[in-house]
Amino acid sequence: MPRSPVGRETDRVDGRLKVTGAAEYSGDYRAPGLAHAHLVTSTIARGKVTGFDTAAALASPGVLRVHTAPNNPLRLYGITGQAAAFAETYIPMKSDEVHFHGQAIAMVVAETPEQARDAAALVTATYEVLQPRTSVTDEPRVPAGPTISGAPSSLNILAPGVGSIDAALAASDVVVEAEFHQNMQHHVAMEPHAVLAVWEGDDRVTLHAGAQIPSAYALGVSQRLGLPAPNVRLITKYVGGGFGARVVLWSDTPLAAAAARELGRPVRLVLTREQMFTLTGHRSHLTQTVRLGASRDGVLNALSHRSVAERPTTMSFTMTPAHSTSDALYRTPNLHVDARMAVLDIPGSRAMRGPNEAPGGFALETAMDELAVATGVDPVELRLRNYATTSPSTNLPWSSKHLDECYRVGAERFGWANRSATPRARVDGQWLYGTGMATAIYPAARRAGFAVGIRLREDDTAVVSTGVSDLGTGGATVVAISGADALGIPMQRITPEISDTYLPPGAPAVGSSNTHATVPLVVDAARNVIAELKRVAVTENGSPWQGADASDLRYERGILHGLGRSMTFGRLLAAIGSPGIYMESSPLLGAPIPGYVHHSFGAHFCEVRVNRFTGEARVTRFTTVADVGRVINAKAARSQLVGGVIFGIGHALLEENHLELSTGRLAGSTLADYLVPVNADIPDIDVHMLNRPDPLLTGPLGDGTEEVGTASLGARGLGEIGTVGSAAAVGNAVYNATGIRVHNVPITPDKLVEHL
Ligand code: MOS
Repeated sequence: MPRSPVGRETDRVDGRLKVTGAAEYSGDYRAPGLAHAHLVTSTIARGKVTGFDTAAALASPGVLRVHTAPNNPLRLYGITGQAAAFAETYIPMKSDEVHFHGQAIAMVVAETPEQARDAAALVTATYEVLQPRTSVTDEPRVPAGPTISGAPSSLNILAPGVGSIDAALAASDVVVEAEFHQNMQHHVAMEPHAVLAVWEGDDRVTLHAGAQIPSAYALGVSQRLGLPAPNVRLITKYVGGGFGARVVLWSDTPLAAAAARELGRPVRLVLTREQMFTLTGHRSHLTQTVRLGASRDGVLNALSHRSVAERPTTMSFTMTPAHSTSDALYRTPNLHVDARMAVLDIPGSRAMRGPNEAPGGFALETAMDELAVATGVDPVELRLRNYATTSPSTNLPWSSKHLDECYRVGAERFGWANRSATPRARVDGQWLYGTGMATAIYPAARRAGFAVGIRLREDDTAVVSTGVSDLGTGGATVVAISGADALGIPMQRITPEISDTYLPPGAPAVGSSNTHATVPLVVDAARNVIAELKRVAVTENGSPWQGADASDLRYERGILHGLGRSMTFGRLLAAIGSPGIYMESSPLLGAPIPGYVHHSFGAHFCEVRVNRFTGEARVTRFTTVADVGRVINAKAARSQLVGGVIFGIGHALLEENHLELSTGRLAGSTLADYLVPVNADIPDIDVHMLNRPDPLLTGPLGDGTEEVGTASLGARGLGEIGTVGSAAAVGNAVYNATGIRVHNVPITPDKLVEHL
């Protein structure tokens, strides 16, 4: 009997292809007659293009076209309806208007990538320049719209008799108030944004491009190109990282597709690293203010969390850092959250790696550490004293919550009890060292409208199909694991088939929801295909059970049993002369369950050493304990959590980009000046998962008599939870080591050295 692969350490199904270089990413595909496009970007942030000089580019070798804005031959259009939420608000190169520094204003198409790039460098533009609005402290500020989950951007919950949050704070024994500022951060996925567009005639196009929500992306492309939705096929076979930068349909894919249509040849467009900084989104720069009011023993009486983030004129994304952090984490009778946005002429900002929760968690969990210091209560004990058993904003219970266990297990694994609460108490040669902790929280959502298909084949293998993207996270492997579990056959007999919009629409690879959205669909498709197997067994010629009742049959581990006979599904299919049978999951699966909220949780503990003379901070130990439901692939899950913690360390110590406020130009545009952690920055990270299933999130469960595996149910998101709170744990450890509290990340040496 095969052991279910669920919960075990499973290598990625595509691991070998990736490490040997055999996996083809979007920019690797070729097509006969391929031409290459290169973009020219604006050098002002706001105004109009008044003219171009394209003569030198047109005379350059191999050049086929020089498109300039405003441009009609490209035939690009607006995006409406549900796809508009995943698109920019302007039409690329349609008008002479410039909305941000680094916007595409011209495109060269040539025989080779080098010819296109060289000719693009020869294109110059003249402008009518307006002063850009660039700072989140600028007016006008607008209230943020509702959050992605539909919650209002502003919330004010007051205990009976309390007039305002300010009154609640004023009535508290201890008040902590802190303001936080952080600069822009970038997704910096390893794979550059690349697209290959191949047309059949001028009304059908196949695209190879990375996308996190392929169905929404293809729908957006179809509208941009003025085509019926089914005429766009998107293949996202291998993707080298998403982190939020591949959710939105940016200008690159529509421009490449339009260039190919206009030229009548396939076109490939690969953005430069510099272009990715302005054309594919970033995390908003923002300010946050957190105020905590508590009793002398640290019990919260009031919590207020306000933020101001960017609203670039080309985007509709809502940034709400207090949501799913301050509105969800601690019990408090008085709660106020408020998100505002400043309308700015800057490159589009979008969700990035725990989009709201990572910056929101840094602010809240830093302020909680300050409350621990102010009250003298141990940081872990402080969090347990304010532990919420129902959501503070909605009062609903969680489908599953074991955060208290995360604190206890994490403190034990890390050796938290040995710490000194006194700052600057520990010295080792040149190094001051200390420890810090923080909580992690990330929302989980059920997702409806997606599907999985399973085909049982006469060779006793099964194909599990869904249009989901695997961003490098192990999504294809999860499909194989859950297919093997549900059908009760070894993983070697499962072929996962993903990453193509011709397949059933796959769950979005966003919001840490891919696994818990996909796995129940696999189980349901298995249930349906087994029912179909029984149906053909009793109806088809050649079946030993023809004429019997389907209820006499039982499916178990790839074999149909009944009336004293047994046959594998493959042999039955061969007997009835069928190459395979195919069924999909039921369409309504994944609708919300009223009455519950869903989050993943975790606790981070770390040790940081700060050099007394240079102010350099090094993370030397890290323990993360995560409550992420049932673990499907222990190996990939650990990698996801480690990756999240590394993002957190980058957030705390390294990652930022500066915007030149007078011009709206991003100062950093390469991986030499935008720093992310490298191996030398990262200690061995101790990750532990509680592995407690969340059956309500992924249910409804069967009654236990089902023929399909149910072991795969109960997963919950873990893609982003590691990055929430981890930066605060680092900052809190820096405080414990040095006595210096830094509110404006990253905590670079200059912010420490003058106070050491
Ligand atoms: Mo994620 S930041 O939801 O792609």
